[in-house]
Amino acid sequence: MGRLNNLISILDLDRDDIDLILNTASKMEDVAIQRSTELSDKIMACLFFEASTRTRLSFESAMLRLGGKVLGFADVVTTSAGGKGETLADTIRTVEQYADVIVIRHPLDGSARVAAEFSRIPIINAGSGAEEHPTQALLDLYSIKKIKGKIDGLTISLCGDLKYGRTVHSLGMALSKYNVKIMLAAPPPLRMKPAIVKEMKRIGIEVTEVDSVEEAIRDVDVVYMTRIQKERFPDIREYDAVKGKFRISTEELELMRDDTVILHPLPRVDEIDPIVDDSHHAKYFNQVYNGVITRMAILKLILE
Ligand code: NCD
Repeated sequence: MGRLNNLISILDLDRDDIDLILNTASKMEDVAIQRSTELSDKIMACLFFEASTRTRLSFESAMLRLGGKVLGFADVVTTSAGGKGETLADTIRTVEQYADVIVIRHPLDGSARVAAEFSRIPIINAGSGAEEHPTQALLDLYSIKKIKGKIDGLTISLCGDLKYGRTVHSLGMALSKYNVKIMLAAPPPLRMKPAIVKEMKRIGIEVTEVDSVEEAIRDVDVVYMTRIQKERFPDIREYDAVKGKFRISTEELELMRDDTVILHPLPRVDEIDPIVDDSHHAKYFNQVYNGVITRMAILKLILE
């Protein structure tokens, strides 16, 4: 990817890098269906120290569609890191001898950066603690562009758990590179970190903070809903105080503009009523497929 070897943070990419990834992703739409052999000499290792369905399987699907090979683990309990106390550094120094690229998800902030320090092969961050999830942000941007035909000029609201949700951290920073208006909607204890809001404003985009779903869904182009990250709360009572507060159901749909699109990185718990799935606003299962397309582009750009 030009000067880029690793994909650790969305901040490592400038707007040209992001546009290159999105344009390459468009070209992958046909390849995803036809399949290709362009990465047939490459091996991808997926090291998932934390639960995943879409991220890991879409990376594997992306690699397989490009003719590459995959190996890895989805459950740390079966590994030396989980069972015998091996360090992340030693795991990386081992796996780099088995593969050409490492895709890593880990519960600690900074984990992907640490992995990159010890690795001689490219590292792709597939979720580092509550901090970042850059490939999700890229597939979110790709989804917005594919559905709306553009990113510049849009008003986008990021809703739900903006404190612990890593997808909204990466997406907020990625959107800041475009000419957009952003609305941040969260229950007060789950507001976006002030440092990220400050960074968005410094770059010059308009950011509004609200604390209700109703305010966030009126007159916007995209509503990006997220799950309250139960597993990241230090105290379960804090979770109980906010759970179920942010929800989209039929009443909320009635408040929306007809052309408003609802996205969600998934998994959802209760924040989008399944009744919404049948409405023309719901695009989150289309977004899932865009994960394969975007990750094909990322793998191709990093490995070729
Ligand atoms: C997200 C994650 O793992 O951060 N899932 C995903 O990768 N699509 C969102 C979440 O877990 O809520």
